[in-house]
Amino acid sequence: MTILFYTTFSDAKIWKKEIKKQFKNEKIVSIDDKKNYKKVKYAIIWNLPDNILKKLTNLKIIFSQGAGVDHILNLPSYKQTPIIRLKDPAMGDRMSNHALSQILNFQLNLKKYSHYQGIKKWVDDIESYAPLENNKLTIGILGVGFLGKHVANSLKKLDYKVIGFKKNKAKKNYGFKIYDNNLNQFISSSDVIISILPSTKETTNFINKKFLSKMKKKSLLINVGRGNTLNEKDLILHLNKQKNFYSSLDVFQNEPLPKSSKLWSHPNVTITPHVASITIVKSAVKQMHLVYQKYKKGKIISDVKLENGY
Ligand code: GLV
Repeated sequence: MTILFYTTFSDAKIWKKEIKKQFKNEKIVSIDDKKNYKKVKYAIIWNLPDNILKKLTNLKIIFSQGAGVDHILNLPSYKQTPIIRLKDPAMGDRMSNHALSQILNFQLNLKKYSHYQGIKKWVDDIESYAPLENNKLTIGILGVGFLGKHVANSLKKLDYKVIGFKKNKAKKNYGFKIYDNNLNQFISSSDVIISILPSTKETTNFINKKFLSKMKKKSLLINVGRGNTLNEKDLILHLNKQKNFYSSLDVFQNEPLPKSSKLWSHPNVTITPHVASITIVKSAVKQMHLVYQKYKKGKIISDVKLENGY
């Protein structure tokens, strides 16, 4: 049986090595092996071109090289092949570390000190810059899927107050308060909002002028979900009006973020280049292999709900 491997990540060699190690009995082909397209049963992909997907007529499973699956669902030729998203706790830890670093940056006023360092100024005005204790800060998790829950639980262990928002009624106990029908209250209760929303029709521009206007004047918005969920123009206008409002962005409407974007140089914005939870190749391929073994035993394992778009 044949696996097609395709990536736009920079570590293709490492991926191939790990896939060969785990999927010992499978032939691994690239998109240049045109004569093998019909034999391809599994695809391990990131940003596969649509004209290739169209030709893989015997495909049984698509493995996403990331937690997000929008890069597959957005392909016009994608129909119904089961998709396996990555649910790797090690990626959850990466995401939690990233979120924590950005919360601490805000909580400890580190951007201010970095500014003062730049102008060699000693400002020990502790009254203005007294850091709040963890249990005084409410962290709102927007999107409580696999990664959202992971981040929430890590932050709870550090004594932060954690709340979550989901659009449908919460059917289980998350271990923290879920606002399942009250977005406004969720927004206005949060000192920090961490958005981990997937990209769907419904989430496009979800964080817009109206959303931002409900956030506390002194607060932080972290976006580690998808760029299209945040209206960047509205964000820039909001940042310019609210001098105690901060934003940490890892994902953007256009990636790489164009040099012309005003976000690059805004003093209250932190930018990282879509690295908050990069895939850990070794553990990712191991997880894919486990799913593949289950599939061989006749178990269907996809948890991507096409009707929800993620
Ligand atoms: C990264 O954005 C991912 O989907 O894993």
